[in-house]
Amino acid sequence: MQFRILLLSALAASIATALPQQVVSGDEVTGTQCLDTSIQFDTHSTNVAILGICGGIASSIQKCGGNPSSTTGQSGTSLFTLNATDAGSTINISKGRWERCVKAAQLTCPQGSFQTTCIGGATPSGDVSFSLTEA
Ligand SMILES: *[C@@H]1O[C@H](CO)[C@@H](O)[C@H](O)[C@H]1NC(C)=O
Ligand SMILES: *[C@@H]1O[C@H](CO)[C@@H](O)[C@H](O)[C@H]1NC(C)=O
Repeated sequence: MQFRILLLSALAASIATALPQQVVSGDEVTGTQCLDTSIQFDTHSTNVAILGICGGIASSIQKCGGNPSSTTGQSGTSLFTLNATDAGSTINISKGRWERCVKAAQLTCPQGSFQTTCIGGATPSGDVSFSLTEA
């Protein structure tokens, strides 16, 4: 019995290590507001839109390139809009942080459009406010 529990916790720990971007507490974001909870975004489109920010951060690209002050990622009707919160700052968010911030916002707003702020991800200072809305 004890041994099985140990095995299960070891399995859970290894899954957490394999998928670090999936493990979120909700503290990655602040001020999350659910907007229209009746919108049913296509999950695949939303995942593609996540990788569409900053001109694309798919496959080997690990962070937002080009230092934009704002950027969008869109696929189908899923539209992410991101802004650096501090005037003069630009977005250089890593892919891992970005994916964790989306997941964290979806803990509060599992369905529909929302607006929130990802803590960090901008240089030289500030955060990244972002929304998922219907394109
Ligand atoms: C963003 O740029 C700053 C300054 O160049 C750097 O310290 C920081 O590590 C970068 N952040 C990411 C997520 O790459
Ligand atoms: C980003 O900035 C644009 C232009 O100022 C604004 O319309 C939009 O609401 C902002 N979005 C977020 C999520 O901050």
